[in-house]
Amino acid sequence: MFSRLLFLLPLAFGAIIDFEVDVGGIADDDDVDTAWKNGGLINKTLAELSPGDTLVFPASTYHVMGGIRAPVGLKDVTIQLDGTLEFSDDIDEWPKNENGDVYPSFYFDSPSNVVFTSSTMGTLDGKGKKWWGLPGIGYLMRQENRPRLFEIANGKDILVENLFFKDSAYWTFWVHSVDGLEVRFCKIEARRTEKDDHDLIDITAFNTDGYDVTGNNVWIHDCSVWCQDDTIAVKDGSTNMLFERIEASGVGVTIGSIGGSTVKNITFRDINMHNSYKGIYMKFREGDQGLIEDILYENFYIDSPSQWPIWIGPAQQSDSNRLCAAHPCSICWPDVPFSKCEASESQYRNIHLKNITVVNPKKSPGVIMGGSDHPMQNVVFEDVVIVNPSKDEDYYKCEGVSGGVAKGKTWPVPKCFEDQTD
Ligand SMILES: *[C@@H]1O[C@H](CO)[C@@H](O)[C@H](O)[C@H]1NC(C)=O
Ligand SMILES: *[C@@H]1O[C@H](CO)[C@@H](O)[C@H](O)[C@H]1NC(C)=O
Ligand SMILES: *[C@@H]1O[C@H](CO)[C@@H](O)[C@H](O)[C@H]1NC(C)=O
Repeated sequence: MFSRLLFLLPLAFGAIIDFEVDVGGIADDDDVDTAWKNGGLINKTLAELSPGDTLVFPASTYHVMGGIRAPVGLKDVTIQLDGTLEFSDDIDEWPKNENGDVYPSFYFDSPSNVVFTSSTMGTLDGKGKKWWGLPGIGYLMRQENRPRLFEIANGKDILVENLFFKDSAYWTFWVHSVDGLEVRFCKIEARRTEKDDHDLIDITAFNTDGYDVTGNNVWIHDCSVWCQDDTIAVKDGSTNMLFERIEASGVGVTIGSIGGSTVKNITFRDINMHNSYKGIYMKFREGDQGLIEDILYENFYIDSPSQWPIWIGPAQQSDSNRLCAAHPCSICWPDVPFSKCEASESQYRNIHLKNITVVNPKKSPGVIMGGSDHPMQNVVFEDVVIVNPSKDEDYYKCEGVSGGVAKGKTWPVPKCFEDQTD
């Protein structure tokens, strides 16, 4: 299904447009007027591209104002970033709509056959620190009104490769309702410190999700992500996706949060998670009933997660500025007395975890929580081995499962599963 992409790599016709020489872009000047000028030139040049053209950003740093928006339906072009686009952190100047909502940094509506590439490793720098603000206080000031770094809506046959998405102010990579997306050799980082783990300071770079997608036919491989929210999030209505050979550390390798939609046929394999918060994470939010089915997580190595390495249940989140609000499971649960965690009545079906190794989780191995009216069906843990778990909740919290089976070398066995281990 991805072979179609190969056709568009070396297009023999079309112009090569150099952002500096041909367009007049200005390098290495962080003045806000230059950022506006460069941003305006990118807007204008994207609008003038013809099928077959390549827009090249040479190996320099260009300061740009955000709100860059390609014309609707950009087709058959290549954008090659050999240098860095450093987005402005001037929050007052940033383009906003009439309600004061910021525009994304770099936005594409309905592109098709578009390649984002680099001859080296191009960088999109979101300069997030200023937007995240002071740890703990920044969120209360701006909440979620922060720009996404890279957004594509309704794309078709998109290739993204050799790019470094750095310090996004909000979600990093948001490609929704896509049909045909390949992402390879890319890197995402959103961090306040250079430390090798995520602490209470780091996590206040809230909502810095990694690869977030919806749509059909998505393949993300040979990439890395270190962020302070979901590292990968497969969201509502997604089908037929494969994620493989990824280094991921953040809140989780996630499906969700899902509301009233069906997510089907999603595989994650050969994933290494070092010092993450959560590991394998599937979550439903409140509201309309949804279905998550035909899911495989295979060949995971999860080392020293600070929370639960495996969570299949309600979303543990707050969507308001009351940190402990339960939407539908409080992030203060179970440590804060009276905090709530309620299963949603959405359904999980055919969930397979295979060859998962977890070493030294700080909490219990996991939470598996299906609804009482629609319990999970056919959940199989095959060779899911937890080394040195905490014994909280008798190892797993496990409820609302009908037809859970533990096989192979799985240990410990979730107590609401049938034990078929060797
Ligand atoms: C780019 O164009 C969009 C509208 O299409 C506008 O909102 C935004 O301000 C422009 N950005 C710059 C940097 O000129
Ligand atoms: C599941 O998705 C993969 C792509 O990840 C695709 O190759 C495969 O054909 C899909 N399976 C079904 C049964 O549709
Ligand atoms: C199991 O997963 C590990 C990664 O944790 C991998 O190195 C190993 O090759 C996998 N085993 C099999 C049989 O696929």
